[in-house]
Amino acid sequence: MSERLEDIAKAMVLPGQGILAADESTGTIKKRLDSIGVESTADTRRDYREMLFRTEDAMKNNISGVILYDETLRQSAKDGTPLVELIKQSGAVPGIKVDTGAKPLAGFDGETVTEGLDGLRDRLAEYYELGARFAKWRGVINIAENRPSRASIVANAHALARYASLCQEAGIVPIVEPEVLMDGPDSTHDINRCFSVTLETLQTTFAALDDLDVNLEGMILKPNMIVPGINCPRQASVEEVAEKTVLCLKTAVPKAVPGIAFLSGGQTEEQATAHLSEMNKSPDLPWALTFSYGRALQAAALKAWGGKTENVAAGQRAFAHRAKMNGLAAIGTWTETQEAAA
Ligand code: 13P
Repeated sequence: MSERLEDIAKAMVLPGQGILAADESTGTIKKRLDSIGVESTADTRRDYREMLFRTEDAMKNNISGVILYDETLRQSAKDGTPLVELIKQSGAVPGIKVDTGAKPLAGFDGETVTEGLDGLRDRLAEYYELGARFAKWRGVINIAENRPSRASIVANAHALARYASLCQEAGIVPIVEPEVLMDGPDSTHDINRCFSVTLETLQTTFAALDDLDVNLEGMILKPNMIVPGINCPRQASVEEVAEKTVLCLKTAVPKAVPGIAFLSGGQTEEQATAHLSEMNKSPDLPWALTFSYGRALQAAALKAWGGKTENVAAGQRAFAHRAKMNGLAAIGTWTETQEAAA
């Protein structure tokens, strides 16, 4: 594969394909495994991820990139094949989460700034050697009364831009992820508030990327969709979410960005698919619009597997189905009928 940033970025958002976010930190994957009654050990975490990466039809047809956590990037499958090799053999690009988490923002109670810049240049050089060709960094913006502050938007945008320029120096495509939460501590906000906060966040982030001369053709944006908070009494239709999300992105995201890969953020699997498919029916989209889902690609597979060797095939069927539905959504042709047919 070409090593140019622009070509790697394009390969991450091929038509009908998207990104599997399997970069849960050790703490987060423990919660997922707890939910199915499986103890979180290096081996169970490996077994779970190996099941996903060996789902041949999904990986070949619908997954163009996989985001890994540090531990997974260094792990091998049961038969000794490095997990990175499994991913590459399927034709997908291996990637790595490089932020070290959202930490309290000094002076702004309840808000966070994402850390991980110190030493990042050296870590990226090692990740490159280990086979990663893209990276991910997630900034978190939380809506509540009088929140977000301008400070949290600016601090997170600055960190994202510093991260992105270090990635590009290292030959690694940055996924720039400024997430406006739909399921934060309050989350009673309506869809219009999500729109205005997301718009300001994206505009501030692209201004920061421009200040640091980040090459927009060699990056991928990973935003939230425009949705109401989970505790908002007025939820939105699929059409409204699609229309507002596309409008927000067209207002804030330069055409030079090759692809936008959404996070699922707490939407159900089917909601995340329906929203993406509806957006892809819009005419004249300047960028590829696809998925970079964690929970919305994995929830059914995790449950079907349940930590049992005899259920690996069932877990893989569930993952293949979800990946296929999202692959259809990435070209705007998913329907509820196809969902039911499976
Ligand atoms: P979700 O799709 O579960 O929100 O996870 C995507 C992700 O990578 C968040 O950083």
